[in-house]
Amino acid sequence: MSDIITVKDLVLVYGDGTKAVDNISFTVQDGEFFGFLGPNGAGKSTTIKVLTTLLRKTSGSATVAGYDVEKEAGAIRKVIGVQSQETTVDGDLTGRENLELQGHFHQMKTSEIKQRVNELLKLVELESVAEKRARNYSGGMKKRLDLATALVHKPKLLFLDEPTTGLDPQSRSTIWTYLQKLNKEDGITIFLTTQYLEEADKLCKRLSIIDFGKIVASGSPTELKHEVGADSIRVALENCDKDRAKAKEIIKTMSGVSEIIDSEDCINVYAKNAGQLIADIVRALDSSDIRLSSVTFSSPSLDDVFMKHTGRRIRAEDLVKAPSAMFGGRRR
Ligand SMILES: Nc1ncnc2c1ncn2[C@@H]1O[C@H](COP(=O)(O)OP(=O)(O)O)[C@@H](O)[C@H]1O
Ligand SMILES: [Mg+2]
Repeated sequence: MSDIITVKDLVLVYGDGTKAVDNISFTVQDGEFFGFLGPNGAGKSTTIKVLTTLLRKTSGSATVAGYDVEKEAGAIRKVIGVQSQETTVDGDLTGRENLELQGHFHQMKTSEIKQRVNELLKLVELESVAEKRARNYSGGMKKRLDLATALVHKPKLLFLDEPTTGLDPQSRSTIWTYLQKLNKEDGITIFLTTQYLEEADKLCKRLSIIDFGKIVASGSPTELKHEVGADSIRVALENCDKDRAKAKEIIKTMSGVSEIIDSEDCINVYAKNAGQLIADIVRALDSSDIRLSSVTFSSPSLDDVFMKHTGRRIRAEDLVKAPSAMFGGRRR
């Protein structure tokens, strides 16, 4: 398989000095479903903007569909579809008109547009509301229309910037179905950014995890989780500041423990035999007068992969509860 995106030592520094993309390299293969997973402010949108020729890189190189992002921007725009993070739907137009307008932008023939628009309305299940103004659509419907808009000119490569952020779980899984269909049945290469771990895990064949402008891990979801190599035990202490160091000393001596790191909960322990170990941890901390507030364990998730590399968790669930958090800058 050939590479459809190549990125080497890419850097983007904004005018105010913010280094949003800090020397990243990766490739995406033709036909692949590739993910960029990272918290708010990680540099995902900036990367997409460089690859879709909306922003000029500071240094490094990038090619999309064999074209250089700087020298051959026009050629790239013809073969890619882009769904940006902010919805671009025109509320004054109907769903159908939004799509038709896009076809005209791409200088498609009227008859061709008509047929394509019908196909897309069907794909994203908006046929029944096609003649209604888009301003009356729900958030999920707007995102679906936006996705269809990016597909009008039959791009072979689709860039999706957080296509499901802020949507309820059902709307999210509906979009997942369309995306899988586009990738599997139509062979469209997809580059998707997300803050949702389960989304990256479910959809992406390969992904990179990005944090503060740097790639901290890359691989298939299975490889990445395997790399954690152990179950993860979250230990929350009532008085974390006071007891953390002592608790770590105690847990460190227990058999089966492969790694202990500081976390937002307090301590995260990686171990092969988590189920068994929990009882030992509870007992040992109790006899040392360290008060626990909770202990939980799970098989490794992509969140544990992120945690292992950054010491923090991605809290995409916060976004659903408080969508305004979407517009914040860097976390912490
Ligand atoms: N136009 C801009 N000017 C200056 N800084 C910016 C601009 N856009 C984004 N940033 C900053 O660059 C970093 C990466 O942002 P972004 O690429 O939007 O992250 P993500 O999409 O992963 O949330 C953040 O610190 C953000 O505040
Ligand atoms: Mg973004």
